[in-house]
Amino acid sequence: MKAALGVMALAAALVLIGKAERPETGWSFRLPPGFPRPRVPADNPMSSAKVELGRRLFYDVRLSGNGTQSCASCHVQSRAFTDGLANAVGSTGEIHRRSSMSLTNIGYASHLTWANPLVDGLEAQALAPMFGDAPTELGLESAAQLEARLAGDKTLQGLAQEAFGAGGLTLDRVLKALAAFERTLISGRSPYDRYVGGEVSALSPEAQRGLELFFSERTECFHCHGGFNFTDAFGHEGAEPERKFHNNGLYDLGAGAYPKRDQGLIEHSGRPEDMGRFKAPTLRNIDVTAPYMHDGSLATLDAVIRHYEAGGRGGEANPRRDRFIRGFILTDEERSDLIAFLESLTDPEFLADPRFGAP
Ligand code: HEC
Ligand code: HEC
Repeated sequence: MKAALGVMALAAALVLIGKAERPETGWSFRLPPGFPRPRVPADNPMSSAKVELGRRLFYDVRLSGNGTQSCASCHVQSRAFTDGLANAVGSTGEIHRRSSMSLTNIGYASHLTWANPLVDGLEAQALAPMFGDAPTELGLESAAQLEARLAGDKTLQGLAQEAFGAGGLTLDRVLKALAAFERTLISGRSPYDRYVGGEVSALSPEAQRGLELFFSERTECFHCHGGFNFTDAFGHEGAEPERKFHNNGLYDLGAGAYPKRDQGLIEHSGRPEDMGRFKAPTLRNIDVTAPYMHDGSLATLDAVIRHYEAGGRGGEANPRRDRFIRGFILTDEERSDLIAFLESLTDPEFLADPRFGAP
């Protein structure tokens, strides 16, 4: 009994030390009002030097095999870190089957990429664009190749020393720094946020009517795009994330089937009910991230809303669409109200903040 208590006391003390020891002195996320703190892995605490290192790496074309691309080639700040293409194009010209994703508030994502339940850490995610060959994105050959390229860069090595101590800029540190930078990509100062904060005139009457529609049982948008980040695929410090995926009726080639080139979650789970299930992306800054959906197949917000109005492709006959994709009828005025609301989620400060821009 005594021994057990001792162990418990020790465990409790370790928890306390763990909290107290988090060496984030001088670091602040500068969270917008009402925003929770993003989850930060215990082995990758935030620091200014690390974030600055990550920012430089994010924009560094030495992260691609042939020196033509960086992360920022497909994740452009002014487009909320998307690229404006339906399908991303890698450094060797290979075309990705999917559309580049917004990195808005990416530190809050419960899981990463359009439909993979296993990618849940920013540190690990970056390996896919760096080294993946299905398709080739950045097209790096090996950790040694990258480390050798960066070895002579005094600025980066200095920042690595400051952020991690002796040991140089290894791949592991590159991944940690990129992730730390990505966790700072926080957007929460849109007109909508100001409105919620009490500045009623921040939203036009159209956008206010659109807000009512968005949060209504008529359109059901909020079920999958709810919460402070307008997605149900989120988590934060103190809140274990849930990995959610939905079929929003984008395709129905018969019996709810999606095109073979991309069928979503079912590719990982093998379960028929996961056909066409994808992550519901955040709708923050959605006005600047066209074209829409995992394959960029809807060009405008107008097209997106008409898609939901129709209840998706196949309508009621689609056996795989989510129960909240039921279809509804909007007048032209209501449709533009809803678009005005979605536009009010654009945060101009985020899109131009030099802290997130190229060094
Ligand atoms: C060739 C274009 C391209 C490059 C280069 C690229 N990405 Fe991406 N990124 C994408 C695409 C496409 C997706 C969606 C992938 C999927 O669903 O399979 C994505 C997804 C992501 C996601 C998941 C976002 C979410 O909401 O789940 C993160 C994080 C990310 N990229 C970070 C990076 C980082 C960091 C780099 C540099 C190391 C990088 N990307 C380089 C195209 C690119
Ligand atoms: C059942 C859950 C669900 C509901 C309800 C829902 N969505 Fe979605 N939404 C998704 C999913 C999942 C995706 C991604 C689908 C894909 O790429 O195949 C998505 C994608 C989007 C996109 C494109 C995002 C991007 O980055 O490309 C927009 C815009 C959008 N939804 C707006 C809305 C609006 C407006 C409503 C209400 C009319 C709504 N959604 C209702 C699940 C939902």
